[in-house]
Amino acid sequence: MIRPILCYPDKRLREPGNDVEEFDAELHALIDDMAETMYAAPGVGLAATQLGIPKRLFIIDVATDEDEPSDLRVFINPEIIAAEGETTFNEGCLSFPGLREDIDRAERVTVRALDKDGNPFELEADGLLAIAIQHENDHLDGKLMIDHLSVLRRRLMHRAMMKRAAADAAQ
Ligand code: NI
Repeated sequence: MIRPILCYPDKRLREPGNDVEEFDAELHALIDDMAETMYAAPGVGLAATQLGIPKRLFIIDVATDEDEPSDLRVFINPEIIAAEGETTFNEGCLSFPGLREDIDRAERVTVRALDKDGNPFELEADGLLAIAIQHENDHLDGKLMIDHLSVLRRRLMHRAMMKRAAADAAQ
């Protein structure tokens, strides 16, 4: 089931997620809904907090080419345990539709998380996957890409989203 994605400035995007404790059918149904919602958007990552569900859970699929096989990754109760290097990437976010901004991130990260059945794993990532992990992990702390911008860029992005919210409300 495709679920509605919350857009900035929805306050629920600021709510930090709680650890997932039950690895049951309900969780698996949520993950299925998240994947369906992300692919339909389309996007490369989606956090549960973007659906108004305050849980520490996000999914990523950086296989964006149509002829590339899908590569869905699930991260539950994730922790970035190492980060090194610096890079800047022009990021988008499904909670800021149509907007992109250059964001500074670490170039490589190591993340420790649980899979959908509660098994722990560790992953070293670089490239787009490392960017996506940092972006989605921010969502679980109630942090958004706008928080990484200079005061001026932040103001412009805020204004663009407020204009959009007003236009949506008028419809
Ligand atoms: Ni996002």
